Amino acid sequence: MRRVITYGTFDTLHFGHIRLLQRARALGDYLIVGLSSDEFNKKKDKKAFHSWSERKYLLEALRAVDLVIPEESWEQKRKDVKLYHVNTFTMGDDWENKFDFLSDLCDVVYLPRTRDISSTTIRTAIGSLEC
Ligand code: CTP
Repeated sequence: MRRVITYGTFDTLHFGHIRLLQRARALGDYLIVGLSSDEFNKKKDKKAFHSWSERKYLLEALRAVDLVIPEESWEQKRKDVKLYHVNTFTMGDDWENKFDFLSDLCDVVYLPRTRDISSTTIRTAIGSLEC
C-alpha cells in the first residue's frame, strides 16, 4: 500500500482542487489530506468561507480521498509523514521547492496547478454578484 499525503484549505471546493486530489491519489493507493484548521488559517491571515467540518465533509465525499486529518501547524509535516507511513508528499507547484526538506523521509512531488481558478477568485466573484 503506497500512502500519499497533501495539505491545504480546500475552501469552496473547485475543479482545481479535484484535479489536484485525483492526481495525488494516482501517485499511490491511499490519500491523506491535511486540512488546514480554522485556527491555523487565522495564523496564516486566511479566512475560509466554509468551516473546517464542512470542508472535511466535502472532501470525505470524494472517491479520491481516503482520510482527512487536521493541519494545525507548519511544523507537523515531518511528524505526519512518519506517523502515517507516507511514501509520497505532494502539493501544487505554487509550492515548488518549499517542502524539499521532507525528501529524506519520502518522495516529494509538485503537481502543475490548474490555471484560472482558486478559492479566492470564487469568493471574490460570489461577493460581487448582485442579489
Ligand atoms: N490547487 C491547484 N489548482 C488550483 C488551485 C489549487 O492545483 N487552481 C492546489 C494547490 O496547489 C494546493 C491545493 O490545491 O496544493 C489546495 O490549495 P488551496 O490553497 O486550498 O486552494 P486555492 O484555490 O489556491 O485557495 P486560495 O485562493 O485561498 O489560495
